[in-house]
Amino acid sequence: MCGIFGGVLKKGAIAPLIHDGLKRLEYRGYDSVGFATIDAGTLQVKKDAGRIDDVVRRLKMNNMPGSMGIGHTRWATHGAPEMVNAHPHTDCNGNLAVIHNGVIENFMELKEELLNKSHILKSRTDTEIIAHLIEEELKGDISLQEAVLKSIRRLEGSYAIAVISTLDPGKILVARNESPLVLGVSKDGTFCASDVPAMLPYTNQVVYLRNGEFAILDQDGYEIRLVSDSTVVERSLEEITWSQEMAEKHGYPHFTIKEINEQPTSLRGALRLQPQYLGLLTALLDRGREVFLLAAGTSYHSCIAASYMFSRLARITAFPAISSEFIEQYGSSVGVDSVVLCVSQSGETYDTLKAIDYARMKASTVLGITNSVGSTLTRVSRAYIIQQSGPEIGVAATKTFTSQLMVLAQLALRLALMKGKISQDEGDDFRENLLRIPDVVEETLNRNKTHVMDLVDKYGGEQLFVFLGRGISSSTALEARLKLLELTYVPSLAYPAGESKHGPISIIEEGVPVIFLCPRGESRKGIVGGIMEMKARGARIISVCEEGDHEIIGLSDDVIEMPKGIKDIFSPIPYVVPLQLFSYYLAVQKDLDPDMPRNLAKSVTVP
Ligand code: M6R
Repeated sequence: MCGIFGGVLKKGAIAPLIHDGLKRLEYRGYDSVGFATIDAGTLQVKKDAGRIDDVVRRLKMNNMPGSMGIGHTRWATHGAPEMVNAHPHTDCNGNLAVIHNGVIENFMELKEELLNKSHILKSRTDTEIIAHLIEEELKGDISLQEAVLKSIRRLEGSYAIAVISTLDPGKILVARNESPLVLGVSKDGTFCASDVPAMLPYTNQVVYLRNGEFAILDQDGYEIRLVSDSTVVERSLEEITWSQEMAEKHGYPHFTIKEINEQPTSLRGALRLQPQYLGLLTALLDRGREVFLLAAGTSYHSCIAASYMFSRLARITAFPAISSEFIEQYGSSVGVDSVVLCVSQSGETYDTLKAIDYARMKASTVLGITNSVGSTLTRVSRAYIIQQSGPEIGVAATKTFTSQLMVLAQLALRLALMKGKISQDEGDDFRENLLRIPDVVEETLNRNKTHVMDLVDKYGGEQLFVFLGRGISSSTALEARLKLLELTYVPSLAYPAGESKHGPISIIEEGVPVIFLCPRGESRKGIVGGIMEMKARGARIISVCEEGDHEIIGLSDDVIEMPKGIKDIFSPIPYVVPLQLFSYYLAVQKDLDPDMPRNLAKSVTVP
């Protein structure tokens, strides 16, 4: 997730506005920054790694001449946060500049093609190929607009793109597929940005570009066309009435609820990983005599879920290990034949890094899954995957949890196929099921908001909650409970349902709410017994189950019904979502700040 801002002014310099616009988008990424402007027919580019204000001051970017230009604040996805990888990227001749937010899935093959045609690519980004594709198309003696369109038609993946060129120095050409882009018009000029807050100081008259659309901006306005066949699209401006602060949170009152609602998008991002990295991790995982899944907090819950996926799909025993316990628990046995797959949103968690140091000292193979390019985890891992969730501002992990699961599920599936543990047909079936999940999460969010708020009204005064699930749903229970603890501070317990009768059941008394996770699947039979045990002791049962599951619905006081058809091995991804909502709305009801729970830090970098 990166931030884009651009503008064509009728008069005056654009650079200070780009600086201001990018500052307002800093929440989208902040590892490097760059501007490109055109003045007197010459393209100027300045960029570097670092925070926006530091880089702009150091390179005197606010003094760049020109009344039109584009700027970018980066959240690295391909290539480390270094100057060479910062946007804008230019063609071989330095005549055109491109900025991009998103992931180009077919960039390796396009890069190869461009290298064969003697293009010189300087960065490790997927974005740079776009500049060279346009340059290549321009050799066919067509207009800039045609060249940009032809290039965009070749891109697979997600993108919001802005291009400027000395060939047409009064225009910015933009396109969008799945990454946001909004246009704005004022009496002083025309703007484009990843998000409304960037342009609110200049205009509140905006129009949202949709997937598959392309637009040409000049100082007097914009024209929107379809990328597919250049048909002109008529769309009128909308007036934005949000305050600046509301706009940064997309109109939501808190980042946490914004991030919960972003999950359909972040999950689609997690399904768009580069196959070669997935392949590399799969191959390295397969080499291990044993696999440890190492993490802390929410990421540890992902690892617990993954241990079920690896076992069920790939027939691999993978041990989930809490980072702070790893050395004592497994230190003597870990060795050269061990693979340690570390999961860390930040890539900077002290306990995880300390355990990694130890594993490396014992010559184990360390692999990583993280959301932060350039983090320590990416530097100490033999190979790693970036989960593509975009920055998460809320201290409680929400969208990064579901994306971690999506990455781990894909690894488990690849391993299963590679080892021949499932047939190609079964693999296709699992893959199709995974591909449905973003839509299922979207539906879950749409249909449950009011219902969950009603549940918060009904159960909000309770002093204790218990979360139970069987099989992989025990990881969902643990994560749902952690969200309740972090966001509301209400004491609660989470257990594998079968284990609850070995002790925890002693705290159940009349009226205690017990939340059961009951997706259909292998663990579904056993859950009914668990519900009966709790009901017999007076518990009130809230079930998260598949819609139309009449047996569970009949046994429950309240239900959250989930869309049908998701395999239980992937169920933690959608099933945790309504419970994230529950904890969020309960925090709001209690007048707590969900974005910054007490005593917690987003990244725990201390022992
Ligand atoms: O950045 P990491 O994934 O390594 O962070 C691990 C935990 O600190 C983190 O998941 C923490 O538990 C969150 N606050 C959970 O919401």
